[in-house]
Amino acid sequence: MHATTTDLMIDARQIHKSFGHLEVLKGVDLQVKPSEVVAIIGSSGSGKSTLLRCLNHLETIHSGSIAIEGDYLVRQDENRQSRYAPDKDIKRICAKIGMVFQQFNLFPHMTVLQNIIEAPITVKKQNKNDIIPLAQNLLNKVGLAEKQDCYPSQLSGGQKQRVAIARALAMQPDIMLFDEPTSALDPELTGEVLKTMQKLAEDKMTMVVVTHEMGFAREVADTVLFMDSGVVLERNHARDFFANPEHKRTQAFLSAMLK
Ligand SMILES: Nc1ncnc2c1ncn2[C@@H]1O[C@H](COP(=O)(O)OP(=O)(O)OP(=O)(O)O)[C@@H](O)[C@H]1O
Ligand SMILES: [Mg+2]
Repeated sequence: MHATTTDLMIDARQIHKSFGHLEVLKGVDLQVKPSEVVAIIGSSGSGKSTLLRCLNHLETIHSGSIAIEGDYLVRQDENRQSRYAPDKDIKRICAKIGMVFQQFNLFPHMTVLQNIIEAPITVKKQNKNDIIPLAQNLLNKVGLAEKQDCYPSQLSGGQKQRVAIARALAMQPDIMLFDEPTSALDPELTGEVLKTMQKLAEDKMTMVVVTHEMGFAREVADTVLFMDSGVVLERNHARDFFANPEHKRTQAFLSAMLK
């Protein structure tokens, strides 16, 4: 195990990632402190999803390093080659991270409750009788206690997304990543999902949220990052970010978003 000396929840440095000849991340740094909520904004194709996917090893990086709670998922050796940790360490490290996607990805043939208890039972080998009360507790938290026996097809988009959040939380992660969790929802359903995320932030969950919801970024996030063409162009405290965007491109993006 290669521990770093910091108390950062996420310490990603100089991440480079290409798809074929297309360099999508061009030296991205991301540091996240315990209980910090970081919002990532930026135009389509700027690399936001790819960055999140690198953090929990859904994508591999070409160079740079990523440490989660001080454990290196991937580090640079003395020749500046990126070396991933052994598979069993990768598994352990990635188990600290939960992720919620734009498209919910619930299992359609399982009830809400079954969706939530599936991974704790199969991946973590938890006892069904232990996990069911936790799952019910989480459903209660996301306001869906009465839906535990429904199938995903019987839920609204906002309800499905709240189940997806409960499902990720059932694995008891230390960090939650959200990739545009409200983008697939009708506007009247985004509020309930954002409220659930806000509660999670109030409960001190460490969160990285890719979002187009500027209100959420301003009010709930501590820090906002603006990505542009594979780089972090600007990073600031949320309030200062919106009050005084520095770069022309950030200003242009914000004025288009806030129109
Ligand atoms: N699996 C892949 N294979 C090839 N190219 C990819 C792949 N995934 C992403 N890309 C490309 O990488 C670039 C960044 O994509 P990414 O999905 O990270 O952007 P994004 O900022 O999340 O955009 P959006 O706001 O539209 O979700 C895009 O040009 C995209 O086409
Ligand atoms: Mg994306």
